[in-house]
Amino acid sequence: MNILITGGAGYIGSHTAIALANTGHKINIFDNLCNSKIAVIDQLTKILGFPVNFINGDVRNTPLVSKVLQENEIDGVIHFAGMKSVAESAANPLLYYSNNVQGSISLIEAMQQNQIKTFVFSSSATVYGKPVYLPYDEKHPTNPINPYGHSKLQVEIILSDWAKSDTEVKASILRYFNPVGAHESGLIGENPNQAPNNLMPYITKVIGGSLQYLNIYGNDYDTRDGTGERDYIHVMDLAEGHLAALHYLKTNAGVHIHNLGTGHGTTVLELIKAFEKINKIEIPYKFSGRRDGDLPSYYSDANKALKDLGWQAKRNLEQSCKDTYFCLNQASCF
Ligand code: NAD
Ligand code: WQD
Repeated sequence: MNILITGGAGYIGSHTAIALANTGHKINIFDNLCNSKIAVIDQLTKILGFPVNFINGDVRNTPLVSKVLQENEIDGVIHFAGMKSVAESAANPLLYYSNNVQGSISLIEAMQQNQIKTFVFSSSATVYGKPVYLPYDEKHPTNPINPYGHSKLQVEIILSDWAKSDTEVKASILRYFNPVGAHESGLIGENPNQAPNNLMPYITKVIGGSLQYLNIYGNDYDTRDGTGERDYIHVMDLAEGHLAALHYLKTNAGVHIHNLGTGHGTTVLELIKAFEKINKIEIPYKFSGRRDGDLPSYYSDANKALKDLGWQAKRNLEQSCKDTYFCLNQASCF
């Protein structure tokens, strides 16, 4: 297919671009570079061996998006473009509703203008909110606890209403768990413009020397070792989940929701130990208080994706830690 990848210069979008191109899809990246660098596009060109079609633009610019869809004869859209910091969303909710919700509406409007009806959306496990039970399956109630989560859930609702209004719409909602790792080339990884919030980028900061030690937010949770538990998934596994979703949409109209996770939880201390062991380095850390808004533990039930999409995560945590470290050690890793 000929795919428009919004947010394709970002962490997950750039890795998905490789997976798509390597399986014969034509890729077109649309990004305003608010949280990524143009150098990522050069790195993709190096990895793929051909120039990548890149358009610098904002998804809220409906006429521009419509023109891009038409001129590039796009068949389907994978929509990564958006903002993802929980803390920033609490401080500036309108920014999140504008980028994530208004951005998605604008994109869908442009798609409607061009009769394009295949859409894959980057949602998040954050839509589930406080666990009523674990693992979260797709039937778990949705009850987000911050504006970022609300913005993702609102787009899910918009997609469902769009599909009700037009039976030809094919929309895949992918609820990601915690993406980590980097492409095996070491040429691209996670390198946001904004200060990171997530655990793995903080670990790389400690290794890189810009942070003295890792703050572990809480060691008194009701988990195996008292530290927070999450479902860390290798970014290339996540990328391949998008291929499986696109393939599924070929024969399945309507809206389909799938978790993309490993089905296993790992605590902060377990992640640190795995990172230290595989990469033979030490990560200094200190325990600090719990971070506001953090949940003690959550992880996916990944069975629906296996059943419907034939997809499951193949890479383990050690691989994620190894690829992150390898990428960090490449001067060219963006
Ligand atoms: P990222 O910040 O690395 O990538 C997002 C990209 O979108 C960036 O390149 C940014 O410049 C671009 N962008 C943002 N707003 C835009 C706009 N209005 N117009 C055009 N481009 C815009 O983030 P990521 O980790 O790759 O996440 C991709 C998507 O997946 C996001 O929608 C995020 O909410 C979602 N998600 C991420 C995680 C995670 O932990 N990384 C987990 C669940 C869901
Ligand atoms: C993981 C664990 C922290 C940093 C967030 C969003 C979620 C999704 C993924 C987009 C927790 C602990 C972290 C640090 C630490 N994003 N930690 N020291 O909180 O599961 O989810 O990113 O959709 O919506 O909420 O991920 O990587 O921030 O934290 O101890 O310096 O690491 O307390 O237990 P989280 P995270």
